Formats: sequence, structure tokens, C-alpha cells
Amino acid sequence: MERSLPKIVFATNNAHKLEEARALAGDSFEILSLAEIGCHDDIPETADTLEGNALIKARWVKDRYGYDCFADDTGLMVDALDGAPGVYSARYAGPECDAVGNMRLLLRNLEGVADRHARFVTVIALILGERTEIFTGSVEGDIATEPHGTNGFGYDPVFIARESGLPFAEMSAEAKNAISHRGRAMRGLIEFLTR
Ligand code: IMP
Repeated sequence: MERSLPKIVFATNNAHKLEEARALAGDSFEILSLAEIGCHDDIPETADTLEGNALIKARWVKDRYGYDCFADDTGLMVDALDGAPGVYSARYAGPECDAVGNMRLLLRNLEGVADRHARFVTVIALILGERTEIFTGSVEGDIATEPHGTNGFGYDPVFIARESGLPFAEMSAEAKNAISHRGRAMRGLIEFLTR
């Protein structure tokens, strides 16, 4: 008889993130998406910190659907912009804006700025039974003066990782994942869950 694996929800419907998490988890537990548990809610992300938003999402699922759950939130922190766009990275150029609009605004705000140091930070909140755990991952880089490359998503064409010297959008998914904010936070989570 087949033994069923423990189930845990990843509070996302992003196919790419799910695939990445499932590959890391191997056959130690089953990762379900929001759609797979019948959750089509527009979960509010109203906190002003990454940790706050990750916790809102994970608690939402645990409280309403009863599943153990983890949720992530990521921001790009630019030193010369006092940490902006930060927790507002997805909607930096306004609620209707896309990645191209966000990058354009970022480059405009950094025109003529010499210090282009930035970091991506991912925070993952896990709710497992009565326990709440937080995992963080970050990667240091610099904002380019113009976009380069076509891989990835979001700010990848303008983020030059210090560890590789390359824009994320010119790195393979595997190479990016090995040093990225989300890769690091995810590996912390998976290590905790599988130990
Ligand atoms: P989320 O919390 O993963 O949805 O990330 C929030 C926003 O940060 C996204 O909409 C992207 O603009 C940006 N972002 C997150 N991760 C990455 C990445 O790996 N590369 C580029 N941009 C990212």
C-alpha cells in the first residue's frame, strides 16, 4: 500500500516557485498550491515588512483551510533609495505597473547615482502545527545602468549579483537559484522540514 506523504501548502500559485520548492523537497513531503486546496482568495498583503506579509499569508491558510503552510515575500532594497522599493517591489511604479515599468522607474531614480548597491531579501514564514518559524535569504548586488539579458523575471535584467558579476537575467535558473535570496531562504526551510 502506498504511504501518503505529509502535506504542506505553499501559499502561492506561481508555477515556477512551486516547481523549485518541489524539486528541493524531493519525496519527503507533498507541497500543495493554493489552487490545489481550493483557495482562490485575494489574500491581503497589507503589512509594511516582508516578514509581516509572509506571516499574513501563512496564517490565512492555516486559519481558514487548516493546512500547515509556508509563504514567502521578497523585496529589492536599494541603499541609495533608503531601502526602496523594498516591501513595495511588486508595485513600485503603481498598482497597474509591470516589471518593465518598475525597472524603468528604478533606473530613473538612480540616474547619475554612483552608489548602486542593492540586495534582494526573501522572508519565508512557516506555520507548522503550533509552531511559527521564519527563514531569510539574501543576495548582494548592484543596479545596472540599463537592462541586460532575458532570463528570469521582475528586476532580474538590472540586478548584477556580486557573487557572479552577472545580471540575474543572464544567468541560468540553476546558477541563479544557487546564490539567490529565494534559493537560500528555501533551502533553510527545506533543511528545517527534513531534519
Ligand atoms: P514576491 O514576494 O516573490 O512576489 O516578489 C515581490 C516582487 O519582487 C516581484 O514582483 C518582483 O518584482 C521582485 N522579485 C522577487 N524575486 C525576484 C527575483 O528573483 N528577481 C527579480 N525580481 C524579483
